[in-house]
Amino acid sequence: MTEARIIVVTSGKGGVGKTTTSANLGMSIARLGYKVCLIDADIGLRNLDLLLGLENRILYTAIDILDGECRLDQALIRDKRWKNLSLLSMSRNRQRYNVTRAHMVQLCEAIIALGYQFILLDCPAGIDVGFINAISPAKEALIVTTPEITSIRDADRVAGLLEANGIYNVKLLVNRVRPDMIQKNDMMSVKDVQEMLGIPLLGAIPEDPQVIISTNRGEPLVLQKQLSLSGIAFENAARRLIGKQDYFVDLNNPHKGLFQKIGEMFGS
Ligand SMILES: Nc1ncnc2c1ncn2[C@@H]1O[C@H](COP(=O)(O)OP(=O)(O)O)[C@@H](O)[C@H]1O
Ligand SMILES: [Mg+2]
Repeated sequence: MTEARIIVVTSGKGGVGKTTTSANLGMSIARLGYKVCLIDADIGLRNLDLLLGLENRILYTAIDILDGECRLDQALIRDKRWKNLSLLSMSRNRQRYNVTRAHMVQLCEAIIALGYQFILLDCPAGIDVGFINAISPAKEALIVTTPEITSIRDADRVAGLLEANGIYNVKLLVNRVRPDMIQKNDMMSVKDVQEMLGIPLLGAIPEDPQVIISTNRGEPLVLQKQLSLSGIAFENAARRLIGKQDYFVDLNNPHKGLFQKIGEMFGS
């Protein structure tokens, strides 16, 4: 059996798409046949449960496990659509947060002992205790940024912190890309962002109102019958993450053949 992968989804800046990315990559990887656990490591502001439509099913959090109030399997919420996808929330709103780095490592070890092959940790915004806890069990990281200078600067800072904490396997996901604005030189291209940060690119996701619709419905984009371009882009990123695909979705030419070779992409 190959070793389980523990990946932290992080950004520094809030509101750039970490939770959206965690939900969609998690769901995609589960659909590709792997056993996946999503951990909502946000403190007091959890919302991964909402994106997955699982908000009414959470009885226990990781803090309840640590307090001896429940077992791990009681706090793991299984998705009804894909039973190989589970969600663990770290804490409830206003719940006392007394989690340490050692706790996080223990939790992940216990989850892997249950046969999970992927753990995706959805990081809180900022770089304080919640961030440090979320990155401590991780062997890999996915940095999410938008093509905006404030987000890129925070992504760069987080990249430095990850390296300082021994996480060298880092990939980049550029979210909320607008090809129309890139064409007019009003937005940095994905290639520019990638070169500024010097982190290998996992994927680029377009700005898409479907993201908001799917959030409100509690149904990740990648589950839609007719995939939107953002859904295709997330699925593509998931396939790349598991090493199945070497193509990027071309956000500029969605109707002229969806997939293009790496070298040809995002040329503008
Ligand atoms: N590609 C996108 N297109 C349109 N809206 C997006 C996109 N990605 C994220 N959003 C919206 O941005 C907001 C923040 O996303 P979220 O995933 O919660 O970010 P974070 O977890 O980093 O704070 C949400 O309202 C979400 O619906
Ligand atoms: Mg979030």
